[in-house]
Amino acid sequence: MNTPVSPGSSTAVIAGIGACLPPRVVDNDTVIARGALRTDDTWIRDRTGIARRRHAEPGTSTGDLAVGAGRAALASAGGPSPDMLLLATTTPDHPCPATAPTVAHRLGLGTIPAFDLAAVCSGFLYALVTATALIRSRACTTALVIGADTYTTIVDPTDRETAPIFGDGAGAVLLRPGTPDEPGAVIATDLGADGSGSDLITVPHGGSRHPQHLPPADPAARHFRMQGRTVYAHAVRHMTRSANSALRQARWSTDTVRAFIGHQANQRILDSVADRLGIEPAHRFGNIRDLGNTAAASVPLVLADRAVHQAVTPGERSLLTAFGGGLTWASVALHWPSAVPRTEAPPTDLDTTPLS
Ligand code: UT7
Repeated sequence: MNTPVSPGSSTAVIAGIGACLPPRVVDNDTVIARGALRTDDTWIRDRTGIARRRHAEPGTSTGDLAVGAGRAALASAGGPSPDMLLLATTTPDHPCPATAPTVAHRLGLGTIPAFDLAAVCSGFLYALVTATALIRSRACTTALVIGADTYTTIVDPTDRETAPIFGDGAGAVLLRPGTPDEPGAVIATDLGADGSGSDLITVPHGGSRHPQHLPPADPAARHFRMQGRTVYAHAVRHMTRSANSALRQARWSTDTVRAFIGHQANQRILDSVADRLGIEPAHRFGNIRDLGNTAAASVPLVLADRAVHQAVTPGERSLLTAFGGGLTWASVALHWPSAVPRTEAPPTDLDTTPLS
């Protein structure tokens, strides 16, 4: 799906940015000790770029973090109230129903349409592109787009290939209609998927293929699995291609891009994609050292962090790209937003309803 915006036409504009992180900081040695992992701090830092990450407390759900990020984005925008909510996640509060309606309810947004979107680590950009299309088509006016995940609820703490990589968090943006010349305007988008690689990133057990009520042949099949080496190659190839496609549609040359944010999967992947694209090191932004891979939250969390530090002048050319399970990939060319991000702690009105 390719969507350039022609000058003068309307598009979606980022009017608010929010972030929510669980307060518990977990360093590499703690992850290693918890899972008795055969690895060390140096290997994790050198091979992934990760030094620490945040872990949600037991009882804190994806929906809780999404409420925090959503509330922060609404405060950052200062209005108007959204008439659509999209939540990108692969760790919903429950298999059924979707988490987005509860998030909308807890945010006091009334009965607006709200739905989950599952594109794994590309989820936030898939949701951003979807919401942009909904705004352009006037199916909605203002959309709250949230990327939230608690991978600690699906990762096997004893798996050295995944446990050190993932962290928990949520990021959000409020989109309103606007014109392409504004800061925060979405200029071009690119989406793609290749289901032939669906087994490379998966939670094998617990869906309709292998229902929850049947015991799995391998107990580890209840957990998240990733074939890291193969995924690595796909991530570099697809993020590079997709980002180039968004740039072509925007008619931007790479040397005019002042902010590049890739999905925070692995520092070496990010370096490789940025090198192939020809993005100068000064214009590459990330948070992987401190937050690890926060899945659907990773791109909006970097956006929030860099915007709060005023690292980029509003209106500058910016490029977001992501890759994830599915396989899926997505890229967005946009003007850097002028919104001042807000951060919220996870809400204390946690849903502690016992299972009946
Ligand atoms: O968010 C969705 C997208 N996700 C990604 O894009 C992640 C992509 N993959 C990666 O980031 C990397 O592949 C990993 C970080 C998962 C692994 O790093 P790598 O440098 O690519 O290692 P590798 O997969 O090529 O494996 C090399 C060796 C293997 O051992 P053998 O088979 O050569 O004996 C792994 O078992 O490194 C081993 N290994 C580890 N060793 C020490 C894997 N994880 C660890 C570890 N500590 N934590």
